[in-house]
Amino acid sequence: MARNVYGLDLGSYEIKVYDKKKDTIWKEKNVIAIANKKEVFAVGDEAYEMFEKAPANIQVVFPMKDGVISRFNDMQYLLQGLLKKDRGFARGAEYVIAVPTDVTEVEKKAFFDLVIHSTARAKEVNIVERGIADAVGLNLDVQNTKGLFIVNLGGDTTELSILAGGGIVLNRLIKVGGATFDNAVAQLVRYNHDFLIGKVTSEILRKRFGVFSEDNSASLTVAGRDLITGVPQQREISISLVRAAIKDPLEECIHCIHSLLDRTPPEVRKAVYRNGIFLTGGLANLPGLEVYMEEMTGIRVRTAIDPDICAVTGLKQIIQSKELRKLAYSMLDENYRWMR
Ligand SMILES: Nc1ncnc2c1ncn2[C@@H]1O[C@H](COP(=O)(O)OP(=O)(O)OP(=O)(O)O)[C@@H](O)[C@H]1O
Ligand SMILES: [Mg+2]
Repeated sequence: MARNVYGLDLGSYEIKVYDKKKDTIWKEKNVIAIANKKEVFAVGDEAYEMFEKAPANIQVVFPMKDGVISRFNDMQYLLQGLLKKDRGFARGAEYVIAVPTDVTEVEKKAFFDLVIHSTARAKEVNIVERGIADAVGLNLDVQNTKGLFIVNLGGDTTELSILAGGGIVLNRLIKVGGATFDNAVAQLVRYNHDFLIGKVTSEILRKRFGVFSEDNSASLTVAGRDLITGVPQQREISISLVRAAIKDPLEECIHCIHSLLDRTPPEVRKAVYRNGIFLTGGLANLPGLEVYMEEMTGIRVRTAIDPDICAVTGLKQIIQSKELRKLAYSMLDENYRWMR
């Protein structure tokens, strides 16, 4: 029987998997709930349901932080748990993993170790830089392009990549993502209303109000806790408050786009201006973001159709095509021998 191949895009917010044999893509929250500090209580979406609601003996943990694996053992338990949930990672399979470029080699190797030494017992592991996987997922001609700008806006991070001639020219990973926006919203609500809301509630507010909309008088009633009386309550939060909160992180993204463009070789930059900027990652769904980015950069901006699964869709295409396979490299290559 031919061995199965999986494409993995491990995100701080969600894990995305392509299963070649079943020819499906699925995703699950990158969360694990641990009871009494040792037993795995729930994993994935089920564990996320408990986030901010769990009793004191259950700890809800995100094993990845800022795009890299921060709690290796928990991440292994999580993969193992998904396996039990009938997500069925067959043993001895091949893995193609999307990894961020702007991280240390040790952080990159953690992705490799995760599948090669764990329950997954991979036979072969190949790595694709996420910016490249995204470009393939966007159906762009990675091999022949003279200049592409991909911005992957995720849960914890934003990864900016400039591609040309089948490779990455410049890449930066910044610690601004959906969680940064949500923290900013929660903080401003707290400051202005003496009212405490959770991250899940901030996320609802942010998703609803986005960056631009016609109706600037909108508001949403949310649940939280009054900080003065300590009593759980409902409050009306206005769109202008949410907009004010997300202004800073948005501007930071724009600033990074500009500074990366400044460092781009002129020929490549010209091509980028011609081709425009492409948005991927779940946060690219934020209402109005595309228009905002276009206005702030003066460059045409387009968003992937399903931005959150764009990179894993790219992995799918790379796995299926002999030609695109060249974009993946093995961690067992000479360069990596010293690390084993
Ligand atoms: N419809 C939507 N509107 C606004 N934001 C959204 C929407 N859908 C998802 N998001 C946001 O997208 C983010 C998750 O995106 P994604 O799955 O690409 O992140 P990730 O890959 O897990 O994280 P990272 O790349 O930072 O490690 C979350 O912050 C989520 O709130
Ligand atoms: Mg991601």
